[in-house]
Amino acid sequence: EQDALVIFTPSGKRGRVPRGTPVLTAARQLGVDLDSVCGGRGICSKCQVTPGYGEFPKHGVHVAADALSEWNQVEERYDRVRGLAKGRRLGCQARIMGDVVIDVPPESQVHKQVVRKEATARAIVMDPASRLYYVEVAEPDMHEPSGDFERLKAALKEQWQVADVEADLDILRKLQPTLRKGEWKVTVALNKGNHDARARVLEVWPGFFEGRLYGLAIDLGSTTIAAHLCDLRNGQVLASAGVMNPQIRFGEDLMSRVSYAMMNPGGDVEMTRAVRGAINDLAKEIAKDAGIDPQLIVETTFVCNPVMHHLLLGIDPVELGQAPFALAVSESLAFDASELELSAINSDARVYILPCIAGHVGADCAAVALAEEPHKSEDMVLIVDVGTNAEILLGNKDKVLACSSPTGPAFEGAQISSGQRAAPGAIERLQIDPETKAPRFKVIGCDLWSDEAGFAEATAATGITGICGSGIIEAVAEMRAAGIVDPSGLIGSAEQVGSPRLVAEGRTHAYLIHDGAAEGGPRITVTQGDIRAIQLAKSALYAGARLLMDELGIDKVDRVVLAGAFGAHISAKHAMILGMIPDAPLENVISAGNAAGTGARIALCNVAAREEIEAVVGRIHKVETAIEPRFQEHFVNANALPHAVDAFPELG
Ligand code: FES
Repeated sequence: EQDALVIFTPSGKRGRVPRGTPVLTAARQLGVDLDSVCGGRGICSKCQVTPGYGEFPKHGVHVAADALSEWNQVEERYDRVRGLAKGRRLGCQARIMGDVVIDVPPESQVHKQVVRKEATARAIVMDPASRLYYVEVAEPDMHEPSGDFERLKAALKEQWQVADVEADLDILRKLQPTLRKGEWKVTVALNKGNHDARARVLEVWPGFFEGRLYGLAIDLGSTTIAAHLCDLRNGQVLASAGVMNPQIRFGEDLMSRVSYAMMNPGGDVEMTRAVRGAINDLAKEIAKDAGIDPQLIVETTFVCNPVMHHLLLGIDPVELGQAPFALAVSESLAFDASELELSAINSDARVYILPCIAGHVGADCAAVALAEEPHKSEDMVLIVDVGTNAEILLGNKDKVLACSSPTGPAFEGAQISSGQRAAPGAIERLQIDPETKAPRFKVIGCDLWSDEAGFAEATAATGITGICGSGIIEAVAEMRAAGIVDPSGLIGSAEQVGSPRLVAEGRTHAYLIHDGAAEGGPRITVTQGDIRAIQLAKSALYAGARLLMDELGIDKVDRVVLAGAFGAHISAKHAMILGMIPDAPLENVISAGNAAGTGARIALCNVAAREEIEAVVGRIHKVETAIEPRFQEHFVNANALPHAVDAFPELG
């Protein structure tokens, strides 16, 4: 009898198989991505497919009503006990009896793409290092004196083609009771790691385990620690949470923490303890938010700057405080959670730390490269991750350069007189009428502009409390555009500018945005000191970018990506009026949100991406701003608004 034609959608893969072949087997043979945890035993239901019947002119086939075998006992039982959605079949049970078109729904694909909200960065394709495997293990036998673990390994090899499996003592301790409880059927969580590492047993359950495995992607910043809890089957983010980095009490910025370690014997140990404690608290909180058992968190990825990296690992960061800024280790690292005292999650969970690029350019920058892929770009792209230190990448598929630049915390609203963190009540957008010099603004938590009806009522609950990072950037840029500030950054007097909004402050002037005295709120101004702080920060950022452009011998970039939690909110036009970033077509200046966090998620969900970023980091050329005399020169020229020398033709 002739073979049957089978066409899988959406992949379009097609081929002929002998009649009677199970759909799952056909999918395997044709390289179609169809999931299975139980190995075709009709238990896991991960292999569900939707056959199509009738005419398929596009594929040139007619699918008869009996193209698949009738339900067998396994499918009937599954439907009775668990319910099978209408039109669905279990791919491991249904057999192909005639020409057929079979759709694999997204939830049945292993390597499904995760839909992301951000517009710019790459898609995440699921290929996690840790997966569940259901196995049936041979019972012990007086005549065959092998251990239970050896028989488990034999079963994994035979039923799943996974060889070279190892397990820690705590797994071996629970293996015997678990095997017996499950009557020699168990579900194993295996981590296959990267670099052809041996597969490791992370957990073992009796019988078929219905639950899921989870991972944490952690962006360990000097100010905040942010974590995303991901479902390792579909990449879905179940919960996100952040806490302040408790190391702040040892020093606001990175260098002051390095000095703390230098000045206080054991100071590094204290800081390591503090940050690990905060990560444990965060893991507990996020698991609680998502309503999952933290023991099911079996993978964690970290991205962080070099100082945070060393303090997480328990390595004294003193060498990072002085030239030549040597890292103790720069390559990617993998550990058991217990080695880093991450006791809130499964003790056998695997921790992966992305590689660092150089002494000042950390795994967070590597993660940005992983998310934004400058190494695959046809056009010349500048990526700036704005934080207390700006991390800068410039390049295209031929070459990528990286540096970091000490912007200080002004872009985050710190060291600004009315500055505050981005939180409800903070001014985040601002416009100034060029004629009247009157401001209108928006605050976080309210959709209205300040001159729209209902604004006062809408903000009554939060009040108007200060100005956040994106707000101060827009404010300074708008002040420049309205002629309130001159190119050197000097705020004019009320007489010069012709507006009562200008108020004297000692020997300088300040621009009054909002006087909250009537409601008992603060008076929000932009002072001369604020302008100077923003000038310093933006000069450092611009000088870093310019230095990389020199290095590549270019004077224009095609595209600019603003990354960082705060980068998501900066307007391209205002960034350019200020001269934070070099001239580029405005429509090509885009925000990527927290690209470092995205990179951590990609590395969590896709094991091949780890090898990719390790290879890319090896090819990124680092430029050290601290020892480069041209950096100083660029820094001084960039102090003017927008710049003393460079032109901004795209601003028009
Ligand atoms: Fe598990 Fe079909 S593969 S039910």
